Amino acid sequence: MSKIKLNPGTLLAPLPAALVTCGDMDNSNIITIAWTGIINTKPPMTYISVRPTRHSHKMISETGEFAINLTTSAMVRETDLCGVKSGAQHDKFRLSGLHKAEASVIKVPLIEESPLSLECRVVEVKHLGSHDMFIAEIVCTDVDERYIDSKGKINLQQSGVMAYSHGEYFALGRKLGSFGYSVAKKKKNNKNRSNKST
Ligand SMILES: Cc1cc2nc3c(=O)[nH]c(=O)nc-3n(C[C@H](O)[C@H](O)[C@H](O)COP(=O)(O)O)c2cc1C
Repeated sequence: MSKIKLNPGTLLAPLPAALVTCGDMDNSNIITIAWTGIINTKPPMTYISVRPTRHSHKMISETGEFAINLTTSAMVRETDLCGVKSGAQHDKFRLSGLHKAEASVIKVPLIEESPLSLECRVVEVKHLGSHDMFIAEIVCTDVDERYIDSKGKINLQQSGVMAYSHGEYFALGRKLGSFGYSVAKKKKNNKNRSNKST
């Protein structure tokens, strides 16, 4: 097998195509964000990288708060729409038909249709070049109760969470394994291995 050398690029995939909300219940905005991820376990921390030209950049800079709302196959059109229209010209809740839900800790509205939302408070902004990286602490997690089982485990696969890869949206497919399964002992010795932290 031979590999072809390409120029350096942002080809890490798949990524979430998250709907990031900002502002408050009266004056809010939604921006689609793929440049995001988890960067620390304790305290739980995340980031979003946002171009300074985005309307959302100004709003997040002013309030220091945002929410990351996971998206599903059923929300793919709305996710794309919020990534091609600006809150400077449009009320994207109205435009997309998505609904606001009150957050538990921050003032930013969550997206009712999202199966899981992370409430975030900015702790640092890094100016990287094309994008500014908002590093944030996750101060609360809000999960649709339908996706928490009787043992309290989150089962998001039933929600149809989707992924973004090289400019295209994909539905996630079948489960292939779970954390640590490659070294797990036989079932009778295998204590609950759910919700493992890295
Ligand atoms: C799938 C997808 C992913 C995107 N990811 C980012 C991103 O990570 N950072 C960013 O600044 N813009 C990203 N964008 C572009 C913004 O979502 C887009 O410019 C949006 O219209 C900005 O909205 P605003 O002006 O209301 O903030 C993405 C767009 C799409 C469709």
